[in-house]
Amino acid sequence: MKVKDSGMPEEIYWNSLFDVDGIIEWLALPGEAAKIVEIGCGYGTFTVPLAKQSASEIYTFDIEPSMIEVAQRNAQEAGLSNITFELRDVLEQGTGLESDSVDMVLLFNILHFREKRSFLEEAARILKDGGTVAIIHWRKDIATPRGPAINTRPDNAQILSASEDLMLDYGGNSKILEPYHWGIQLVKGVTAINRIRVD
Ligand SMILES: C[S@@+](CC[C@H](N)C(=O)[O-])C[C@H]1O[C@@H](n2cnc3c(N)ncnc32)[C@H](O)[C@@H]1O
Repeated sequence: MKVKDSGMPEEIYWNSLFDVDGIIEWLALPGEAAKIVEIGCGYGTFTVPLAKQSASEIYTFDIEPSMIEVAQRNAQEAGLSNITFELRDVLEQGTGLESDSVDMVLLFNILHFREKRSFLEEAARILKDGGTVAIIHWRKDIATPRGPAINTRPDNAQILSASEDLMLDYGGNSKILEPYHWGIQLVKGVTAINRIRVD
């Protein structure tokens, strides 16, 4: 099932709405030979530049054939061979990846509506102990030129509540990602305590 309000505008316009380098810097990518997953890759706005900047193996999924096609073409044009693309409904089928097998999961602009918990459960399942799930979404404190209805955008407290009991620890890494986004990172840990904190 496609997440409601997850359709994309024209590619150049979409890409202009982010400071992609600033967001990748905030991710603090895991080291060499890491495995990174993006659920809902869209045009590859983040997948492609992060594959350029790291030697990680990247697995990326989207429910829309047109998105996979464009993202794959962008990767080919950049000469990249470290990304695996898969057309897949991750809400219905999960990622199909092994449990405890990846270092980082990106949930970018996809965690609105009630499916939040399903994506977070899948991220928690596939992450290794010590792996990170990084989430970005549209800010709700300012008017933004795109994004789902303000009342469906998640905030810190909603992400923490949706990830309760998933062994995902919030260590305070939440940030405004200018101009229009904010992000939060949670780390999987067998002893993780999910502390609700609103910055
Ligand atoms: C708003 S876009 C964000 C794309 C990318 N993460 C970014 O931030 O540039 C959300 C993407 O998730 C995809 N999507 C929606 N529901 C999905 C599902 N159930 N499984 C996999 N992908 C999905 C959409 O097709 C779309 O490409």
